Amino acid sequence: MNSPKASPTLVINEKVNAMWAAGQDVLHLGFGESRFPVHPILSASLTENVSRRSYLPAIGTASLRSVVSNFYSEKLNLNFSQEQVLVGVGSKSLLFAMVHSIEGDILLPKPSWVSYSSIAKLTGKKIIRFDLDRKNDFALNIDYLESAYRTACHKGSNPKILILNSPNNPIGICFSPEMIESAALWARDKNLFILSDEIYSLVTYKEFTHQSPAHFYPEKTIIFGGLSKHLSLGGWRVGISILPNNKEGKQLVSSFQSIAGSIWSCVPAPIQATAELAFSGNSDIDHYIQTCTEIHRIRTTFVHQALSSMGLTSPKPTGAFYLYPSFKKWANKLEKMGINSCNDLSLHLLDQFGIATLPGSAFGDDTNNLCLRLSTSFLDMETDEQAQDVLDRFDSGINPGLFMSDHHPRTKTFLNRMGEFLYMLI
Ligand SMILES: Cc1ncc(COP(=O)(O)O)c(C=O)c1O
Repeated sequence: MNSPKASPTLVINEKVNAMWAAGQDVLHLGFGESRFPVHPILSASLTENVSRRSYLPAIGTASLRSVVSNFYSEKLNLNFSQEQVLVGVGSKSLLFAMVHSIEGDILLPKPSWVSYSSIAKLTGKKIIRFDLDRKNDFALNIDYLESAYRTACHKGSNPKILILNSPNNPIGICFSPEMIESAALWARDKNLFILSDEIYSLVTYKEFTHQSPAHFYPEKTIIFGGLSKHLSLGGWRVGISILPNNKEGKQLVSSFQSIAGSIWSCVPAPIQATAELAFSGNSDIDHYIQTCTEIHRIRTTFVHQALSSMGLTSPKPTGAFYLYPSFKKWANKLEKMGINSCNDLSLHLLDQFGIATLPGSAFGDDTNNLCLRLSTSFLDMETDEQAQDVLDRFDSGINPGLFMSDHHPRTKTFLNRMGEFLYMLI
C-alpha cells in the first residue's frame, strides 16, 4: 500500500494521552494546539445555529466567503473579492486540493510543518528541499532557494510550487517583510505558484509585522488561513484559502469544487454560520485574539529565555507558540549516552524525564542536527479548567514574570526537568 505515515504530531498526542490515562506525569510539549476556551459569543452562536442541517455549497456559502474576503482584506491590507475565497475542512483540506490541482514539483523549506510532505506524498509530488539559513536564525535565503531550484531542474525535476509558512511551525518565527518580498519576487521570476500558509498570521507577536507574499506577487500567491490557531478552534475545522483574481484562480475554484463535492461535500452548516461571526471583525472577538496572542507571546518568550540562560539556544520567537532548539553542541556527550539522533533524544526525554517533544526529523530536518520542536501551547493549559484559569489570571497590565511564576507550575516543572538533563551535558 502506498500510504503516508500517520502525522507524527497526532501520534505523539495519542501516546501522551495514553500515558496520562495510565497515570504517568508527562509534560506535553509535543502538540501545537492553542488551548484557549471557545469565545462565549461563538459558542452561543453555534448553539443558535445547531438546527441548520442542509448541505451547503462545497466552496462555502456566499455570505461566509464575503465576510472572509472583507476580514483578510483588512488584516492584510489587500483588496480581495468574495469570488477569490474558498472555505474548507481546515486549511489542510485546501492545501491538499491546491497541491493536487497544480502541476509540478514542490520546493519546501527544511525544516517545515509535517503535513506538507505527507500531502506531497498523497498527491504523488516530488519534494525539493531547500535549507533555511541556520546560522542566521533560519532566515529565508534566496541563494539557497536558487541553488536548490537549479540543482532540481538540472536533475530533470519540474519545480512549480513554493511553500512558505510565516509565522512558522516548527521554528516559531516570522520571516521579515524584506525576506517575504525577495522570495515573492524570486518566485515570480521563475513563474512558480506560492502556497503561503498564513494560518498563524494573527498570532504574530506585537512589535513584529506579518507580511503576505500576495502583496508582491498577487498573480500566483494562494493564501491559507482559518480559525484553528488565533481562536483555538482546531476541532471546528474551518480553513480558508484566497486565490489569485485571474483565470488560474478561477480554474482552482472549480477544481476545489469538484474535490470538496466528491469527498466531504461542505463544512458543516452550523459551523459555517458561526464562522461568519468569527470573521466579522466583531470588536470583542478581535480583542480576544489579541489577548490570546499576548499570552502565547509571554509564555513562549519566558520559556525561550529560561532555556537560553541554561545554554539551550533557539531563534527568538516572534509568532505562533514554538521553539526549535538544537542540542548539536553536545553531540559527543549525547553519543556516549547512546543518543545519536533527534529521534533518540526525543524518546530519551519522554522515557527518562516525562517530557514529550517532536524530533526535527518529523519536519524533514537531518537527524544529526539534534533539533527538537517544543510547543508551549499545552503547558498549564492541559484541561479546559486550567486554560480558563490562565485566561482569567491575565490582564493587560500584568507583570509577565509574576504571571509566569504565579500561574504556571507545570512550566516551572518542565524547566526544572530540562535543567536536570542539561546539567548532565554541560
Ligand atoms: C503550519 C500549519 N499549517 C496548517 C495547520 C493546520 O491547520 P488547520 O487546522 O486549518 O487544518 C497547522 C496545524 O498545526 C500548522 O501548524
